[in-house]
Amino acid sequence: MASVKKRLFTGLQPSGTLHIGNYFGALKPFADLYESYDSMLMVADYHALTSAPKPEELRQNIINVVKDYLAAGVDPAKTVIFQQSQVHEHTELAWIFECLVPVAYLELAHAYKDKVAKGLKANAGLFNYPMLMAADILLYDTDIVPVGQDQKQHVEYAREAAAKFNIAYGETFIEPKDKILEGVGVVPGTDGQKMSKSYKNTIPLFGTKDEIAKAVMGIVTDSSGELPKNVYAIHRLFRSEAELASLYDSHKGNYKALKEALIEDIEALVAPMCAKRDSLDDRDVKRVLDDGSEKARAMAESKMKLVREKIGITL
Ligand code: TYM
Repeated sequence: MASVKKRLFTGLQPSGTLHIGNYFGALKPFADLYESYDSMLMVADYHALTSAPKPEELRQNIINVVKDYLAAGVDPAKTVIFQQSQVHEHTELAWIFECLVPVAYLELAHAYKDKVAKGLKANAGLFNYPMLMAADILLYDTDIVPVGQDQKQHVEYAREAAAKFNIAYGETFIEPKDKILEGVGVVPGTDGQKMSKSYKNTIPLFGTKDEIAKAVMGIVTDSSGELPKNVYAIHRLFRSEAELASLYDSHKGNYKALKEALIEDIEALVAPMCAKRDSLDDRDVKRVLDDGSEKARAMAESKMKLVREKIGITL
């Protein structure tokens, strides 16, 4: 019997060690939700190419990002975990979408716009990035895309690509929705801005005790108030408001003690995940990816067969 569960799809770039922004913005929401859906998790290795990673690093990061998800409790038997580059239909469909959207529309995409605004040269891959992401999502008839706030615009691009294709060639794609969880859409970094590797304000998820402590002790605090805003903004992801109220009350003005309490909370969350992660073997992870990529390929092939017929290239 066909599945009645809705399709949930998300992806992330294999761009090095994950930070707690990735954990609360994407990894935890996925781990909490995936069993209630027909879910898929994609390692966006072709998206990562837009920032020109070194081949050896990319290879290891692909394995590492899957380990991170497995360590966070995702069971590969209950979801499809796969590698974007292993399913060629993604780049094929991206091309078709690129032929449907105007250049001016892609010029509005944040990642591209921000780079150009900083005077940096963007490559054509970064410019077309939203159409590859649209292909990722739409190939699998996705209903829901759990992502952080920074990816919301990209899900809108996917909706637009679906609508444009459906108008041009007839109803083919579902217009997906995003799912940003209350309070975690933007996890702030140590300087109060969005936590992001490119801002160098991250707290590593699987860092050593010393790395976590160093990052937390570096959280920017101003000396005017009694409550260190940037510490609290991260701490609230770990504890309820009521718990924090009494903790912050009993250590009023003592920023060091509050940072130490946050370090303890981070370690309590991370320690069991680190143990699980250390027990995972690269070869087992490769097997999970091969298995998932095979399943994803079968689904993508059947969707693309339909797309090729619709656009008039099947003779
Ligand atoms: P990426 O790899 O930059 O980020 C992975 C996920 O982590 C979320 N995230 C955050 N959430 C809250 N606060 C933060 N500080 C924070 N930093 C990162 C991101 O929103 C994202 O959910 N383009 C995507 C990858 C992708 C994708 C897809 C996602 C490719 N194809 C299809 C969904 C569906 C990206 O670069 O995510």
